[in-house]
Amino acid sequence: MSSVQASRGTRDILKPEIYYWQKLESVARRILTHAVYTEIRTPAFESTELFARGIGEATDIVGKEMYSFIDRGDRSLTLRPEGTAGVVRALIEHKLYAQADVQKLWYTGAMFRYERPQAGRQRQFHQLGVEVLGSADPRADAEVIAIASDFLSELGLTELVVDLNSVGNAEDRLAYRQALVDYFTPYADRLDPDSFDRLSRNPLRILDSKHPQTQEIVQAAPSILDYLSPTSQQHFEQVKSLLTDLGIAFRIDPRLVRGLDYYTHTAFEIKSSQLGAQAAVCGGGRYDRLVAELGGPDTPAVGWAIGLERLVLLLQKLDEVKPPALDFYIISRGEQAEPKSLLVAQNIRRAGFRTELDLSGAKFDKQIKRAVTAGARYAVIIGDTEAASGNFQLKDLASGQQQSVTLLELISIASLT
Ligand code: HAM
Repeated sequence: MSSVQASRGTRDILKPEIYYWQKLESVARRILTHAVYTEIRTPAFESTELFARGIGEATDIVGKEMYSFIDRGDRSLTLRPEGTAGVVRALIEHKLYAQADVQKLWYTGAMFRYERPQAGRQRQFHQLGVEVLGSADPRADAEVIAIASDFLSELGLTELVVDLNSVGNAEDRLAYRQALVDYFTPYADRLDPDSFDRLSRNPLRILDSKHPQTQEIVQAAPSILDYLSPTSQQHFEQVKSLLTDLGIAFRIDPRLVRGLDYYTHTAFEIKSSQLGAQAAVCGGGRYDRLVAELGGPDTPAVGWAIGLERLVLLLQKLDEVKPPALDFYIISRGEQAEPKSLLVAQNIRRAGFRTELDLSGAKFDKQIKRAVTAGARYAVIIGDTEAASGNFQLKDLASGQQQSVTLLELISIASLT
């Protein structure tokens, strides 16, 4: 029988790549805790209806990319393709809006989309996301963008650009949608098949087509910015001005339409030129109607999600991330020595030192070589004689010096150096 492999579009994250994940997770946790965002964990699957209503029936995600299934109780369920709908469902279900006017939440976890896998695009991928629920203030839009920007620059990513747009409110979009239909209809037979299909279902998404001939037609398409109402315009101006005050550089991209239908006003993406076709590291925007559409009270909201696989691809181009330094490497050989080695390792660990226990039972010199390769500061060598006497050999691996010490002495030496 051939061996079982990971499913297409999924992957294992192994050493040393895992160190990049751990680094970005700890930086994210620090930055978000500092900004007083609370972590929320929602289920990996939800009712299919939540995503169909939340993300929009006419989107690619709902139309073609969902992992949906009927469970044994005859319910239609879907592995979450994104985090926002679940967070909104939780807000409504637990009436979080009654606890505080504004909820600032963050989450991380696996998301699932049936897409064609390629570099930076998978079927199971991971997002880090934030959602600010309950504020229509443009400062909320600017705050979430500022947090994303701080997070990315703290990780050393400085060549990223923020693309910004406003998709207005529902009425603005209705007028704009009509303008697009009027504009594209005469070109209908020159559009690629997907765009042709979108002409009736979701004309805004034509702007996002990667097809060269469609892109040419898109060049002269009307701009959403000409269809914004005065209030929408004012909101957009305020967001731009706040970002400018914060020193966050951005480009206005009137063709930026997001792949989810819930957006109103601000839409943005943070992109890298180093990621090829899958350039967006972060995508987000305002979604003032979603909470009400899913049955909650009128609650304006804004947020983003960062694709962690793409972030890791970028981090791997920077400095190497190493595992934390190793303090002790415990070497033992012999009938009495080996059981004793575990006790020694546990005591040193409890004293606060990072300690690896060699379980190989190999010859002493082989284990010492491993201690050096592992980058340990000290090797503790335990033979049967040491196990009986309680005096262990402590070897400083940088100087090569070795001394006979008790467990207590060993810990105090390590604490002082
Ligand atoms: P999104 O643009 O669909 O937005 O996804 C956000 C990010 O997730 C993308 O910019 C990308 O980095 C990553 N991503 C998406 N699909 C894949 C994939 N198949 N493989 C690898 N990475 C991927 C959302 O999901 C919204 N929920 C963001 C949001 C939060 N808007 C408001 N609040």
